[in-house]
Amino acid sequence: MTIQEIKKKALKEIGDSQNLKQLNGIFQKYLGKTGEINSILKSFKEQSLAQRKIVGQEINLCKNFLKKKIAQQEEELKEEMLARQLKDQSLDVAHLGVKIKKGHLHPLTKVLNEIEEVFKGMGFSIIEGPEIETEHYNFDALNIPLDHPARDVWDTFWLSNKKLLRTHTSPAQVHYMEKHNPPFRIIVPGRCFRHEATDSSHDIQFHQLEGLMVGEKVSISNFKAVIEELFSTLLGEKVKTRIRPSYFPFTEPSFEIDIKRNHSSEWLEIMGAGMVHQNVFKEVGYLPQKWQGFAFGIGIDRLAMIKYNIEDVRLFYNGDLRFIHQF
Ligand code: DAH
Repeated sequence: MTIQEIKKKALKEIGDSQNLKQLNGIFQKYLGKTGEINSILKSFKEQSLAQRKIVGQEINLCKNFLKKKIAQQEEELKEEMLARQLKDQSLDVAHLGVKIKKGHLHPLTKVLNEIEEVFKGMGFSIIEGPEIETEHYNFDALNIPLDHPARDVWDTFWLSNKKLLRTHTSPAQVHYMEKHNPPFRIIVPGRCFRHEATDSSHDIQFHQLEGLMVGEKVSISNFKAVIEELFSTLLGEKVKTRIRPSYFPFTEPSFEIDIKRNHSSEWLEIMGAGMVHQNVFKEVGYLPQKWQGFAFGIGIDRLAMIKYNIEDVRLFYNGDLRFIHQF
């Protein structure tokens, strides 16, 4: 092969090369120590000095030319590579992002927060009571002695130390009144427990909100105003209330409260209430007949069920995210 032929062949290969590795192979093939050009050089060994000089010059020119072409091709390949990389890693700032999932409050917590806001607006303080109670606070001090039939309604879970899980938030009334003198108005939200077979409206745990307002002249009409404000704000409409006679050992008289929403003809039983029984005042050391007040207990679960149209109370507690995510 003549030097010109080699040059032509090499040029084509350089032009066709796809990557640096191939290009390096071409360099070795033509310009390396044992490459094609050097081997031509050897074949001219026998020739005269003058002849070799001419050929040598031509070969040198060819070598330099090919080196230059290889260097150019190397640059081009590197640029291509970079362009490809940039394209692969490109950041499209207009591309739609992945929405980060935010958590939110449980529907019971939401309803409870709303109720608390309404009562705060009416000057009530928010108090807490213990979930583990003694028989004294859960029953006796609330005018429910050991042999009282009402104890059956409030069957609960007993702990080995004769304590029990409170069946209602009412014992918090007693704790509070033992330490504070009237006048006052408080609410006590909290978890309660009952030992019972569960169904769509009963669970072994539920939430109540106790209310208590005591003063010298606190009356049933004060009570009616308070609950009408509560339900109207909470349900976002003017709600009708109905007070029916009922029975609780710790109130006299006792009542059951029903509400009726605008769109419905049905009265919904929503809470128990009454004027605090004088025996309860006596129990906490208040002067008999000096004070009067109303007390009530609202089932938060039931209220949340009405507000959000939930059919089964057990959904609140089973942790099913398909349920929780709807609120
Ligand atoms: N503690 C009652 C219950 O769990 C509810 C209740 C009724 C609370 C009347 C009261 C009340 O404070 O006055 O069924």
